[in-house]
Amino acid sequence: MKKIAVTILMLGSLVFAVYAFGKGNDQVLAKTGADLFATKGCTACHTIGKGKLVGPDLKGVTKTRTTAWLKNWLKNTNQMLQTDKTAKELEKEYGVPMPQQSLNNEEINALIAYFKASDQGKK
Ligand code: HEC
Repeated sequence: MKKIAVTILMLGSLVFAVYAFGKGNDQVLAKTGADLFATKGCTACHTIGKGKLVGPDLKGVTKTRTTAWLKNWLKNTNQMLQTDKTAKELEKEYGVPMPQQSLNNEEINALIAYFKASDQGKK
């Protein structure tokens, strides 16, 4: 019985450690995303929670779009503007196409982590 209890305890700690590590990573990633948002020029056209500029206010964007859509958009902006219904509607609304950005997958993941962190707990 004691062995089982110890095993369960150890497994529990392991699960918690992995969970806590994941959380920490998310925060690091979100911070990287926040930096990228400023240094990649996104702030020329977007705010988060401070209203529209050339492009939409990105507050709440992780609630209205799926992660897959956001990844695709940031990776293949030009293509999405040709093929994706939502992208076309946005372009019509804003009157200008968002320029294709050159972002790698890590940068895209960090930016999305930043959007998610900004949206946490808000509708
Ligand atoms: C020159 C202006 C401009 C720059 C720079 C720019 N965007 Fe955009 N962005 C837009 C416009 C305009 C739209 C709306 C779609 C369209 O018209 O093409 C948009 C749409 C978006 C959307 C989708 C919003 C929604 O409601 O679904 C996201 C996410 C986004 N941009 C993120 C970024 C990120 C991240 C960067 C920086 C790497 C960036 N944008 C740089 C102009 C810009």
